[in-house]
Amino acid sequence: MQSIRAVLFTALFALASVSARPEAPPAPSACVSGTMTCGGNFAGGFTVCNWGSPVSFACAPGTKCYPNGSYIICNR
Ligand SMILES: *[C@@H]1O[C@H](CO)[C@@H](O)[C@H](O)[C@H]1NC(C)=O
Repeated sequence: MQSIRAVLFTALFALASVSARPEAPPAPSACVSGTMTCGGNFAGGFTVCNWGSPVSFACAPGTKCYPNGSYIICNR
């Protein structure tokens, strides 16, 4: 019972903090879904936020990541 209450509380907190996307499933608000940031598991790569979790991608060979607002550009 206690763990269910803890999960519910976490879900409510996550929903409250990402209320711009009320259809999103409960997720740790590590990032804002749909945004991209430079970094992640690949050198010169980037991450795309998927339901609150960053997913790593690599830039094309010979290019690296540059931030551009909420998105990124892979460029030389
Ligand atoms: C960055 O984004 C803006 C609009 O969001 C765009 O006009 C601009 O071309 C982008 N920068 C690069 C280097 O592509």
